[in-house]
Amino acid sequence: MGAPVRTTKGQGTTPLAKRKAWKALQAHYKTMQQIHLRSLFADDPERGGRMTAEAVGLFLDYSKNRITDETVKLLIELAGESGLRARIDAMFRGDKINITENRAVLHVALRAPEGESIFVDGEDVVPQVHAVLDKMAEFSNRVRSGEWKGHTGSRIRNVINIGIGGSDLGPVMAYEALKHYSDRAMTFRFVSNVDSTDFAEAVSDLDPSETLFIVSSKTFTTLETMTNAHTARAWSVNGLGGDEKSVARHFVAVSTNATEVARFGIDTANMFGFWDWVGGRYSMDSAIGLSTMLAIGPETFRAMLDGFHQMDEHFRTTPFERNLPILMGLLAVWYNDFFGAETVAVLPYEQYLKRFPAYLQQLTMESNGKHVTLDGTAVNYATGPIYWGEPGTNGQHSFYQLIHQGTRLIPCDFIGFAQPLNPLGRHQDLLLANVFAQTEALAFGKTSEQVKKEGTPDWLVPHRVFEGNRPSNTLLAERLTPETLGKLVALYEHSVFTQGVIWNINSFDQWGVELGKVLAQRIIPELETKEEPALSHDSSTNNLIRRYRRLKEAS
Ligand code: F6P
Repeated sequence: MGAPVRTTKGQGTTPLAKRKAWKALQAHYKTMQQIHLRSLFADDPERGGRMTAEAVGLFLDYSKNRITDETVKLLIELAGESGLRARIDAMFRGDKINITENRAVLHVALRAPEGESIFVDGEDVVPQVHAVLDKMAEFSNRVRSGEWKGHTGSRIRNVINIGIGGSDLGPVMAYEALKHYSDRAMTFRFVSNVDSTDFAEAVSDLDPSETLFIVSSKTFTTLETMTNAHTARAWSVNGLGGDEKSVARHFVAVSTNATEVARFGIDTANMFGFWDWVGGRYSMDSAIGLSTMLAIGPETFRAMLDGFHQMDEHFRTTPFERNLPILMGLLAVWYNDFFGAETVAVLPYEQYLKRFPAYLQQLTMESNGKHVTLDGTAVNYATGPIYWGEPGTNGQHSFYQLIHQGTRLIPCDFIGFAQPLNPLGRHQDLLLANVFAQTEALAFGKTSEQVKKEGTPDWLVPHRVFEGNRPSNTLLAERLTPETLGKLVALYEHSVFTQGVIWNINSFDQWGVELGKVLAQRIIPELETKEEPALSHDSSTNNLIRRYRRLKEAS
């Protein structure tokens, strides 16, 4: 097969390091590197009000970044020279921008309102999206109302999603994020790891007659998911008197692979489909979100989709200088490629977003962890940074020390909400005071003069100095609603896209996960065989396999 025809023009044909704005940014960085946020604020009293952007109910304060108006101007020029406009249009049009898999990238179609049209290979996909949503809604209503019964006639009270990667992280993050809006009479669990403890603990207190499994897998071939699905089927069928017919009432599938779903024994009438143009890490708003819909109900799920769509439209239509995902994406590039920052910390001050950083890790790192450009040339600049984080305020009592006083530059995204979902006394003001205090402390720090003035003995002064000049974004919204969650996820999706366009990489494949999968397939029989296997790995791997075989026999 020859190389696929590139349908997207203007995709940064000039190598990044040769783009005019890139060179200008290199020169500009030399100045910026010396300037402290203290002086940027002191010299420009309007900065905190000006360097903000607001859209669809999300307010972004990016003033505490090591930038000037000139930086923003140059970054936007870089986006222009990198063909960002054309790439956005290509994605929304359904062009096959995932060139290594020859696929369109159309998670935006998953939240396109009825009546819009987006074509893939001459077919309008929007009606297909809505047909699946309707089928999900009908099923969800039946389960939630108790009309859908288990094999023995019991009502379904427990839902277990079995999936991994994008078929798990989105559903579990969304369930946790929207728990406040969920049906509390139902229990939701998520099994992903091939470690049997994950499954065993998930079902330990559940009754099979009340338990529905959703087997979520785009390919329906993933080792972890299929292993867990078979274990679940055995647990369910055994618990229901051994009747294989029970599978029809206790298992549904979410997949693009009807053949494998049928082979597993799930009636394809109970399969919810999606399409090859939805990447796993971009799929939480497709049928992969069935567990989310079961938890929060179809209407609330649609409100989340509406939030996604509002951010899509903002991204697609707003000039770059006021475009939230573009600004955030360009700032990520600024720190990654000029300051050499290796990570970005995402710090939600909202307990319900506790799995949001974990979700973002796949979204950002599986997307932009790439070492060659679209035409296969090795990059000579850093691509995707490491994303990580924890909800505040917990992180403050753990790793923030390193962010404040360590030797690394760690740009941070702080995410806060004005209204709590569980108002209790002073909690929310205390929580938000910490958001503002942390960003202030990171930016401005504390000088040795200030420390001395407090009467600190000389020898202790260096330990108590905060350099400051540590950048952060602050995102503020009114309240965590399903709609807001959709906006937030789409914001990061499009920020990742923006970064990928600047780096001229394919943010939509994930070949890097393949080698380990293939090698594991080779090693599995070497662990399982009763005979001592002839091993031909390197000496370390051979040795580890032999030791494992001895140890497992020891019990
Ligand atoms: O191994 C990586 C990956 O392919 C992810 O991209 C994907 O989200 C995950 O595995 C699960 O894949 P599937 O939904 O096909 O089981």
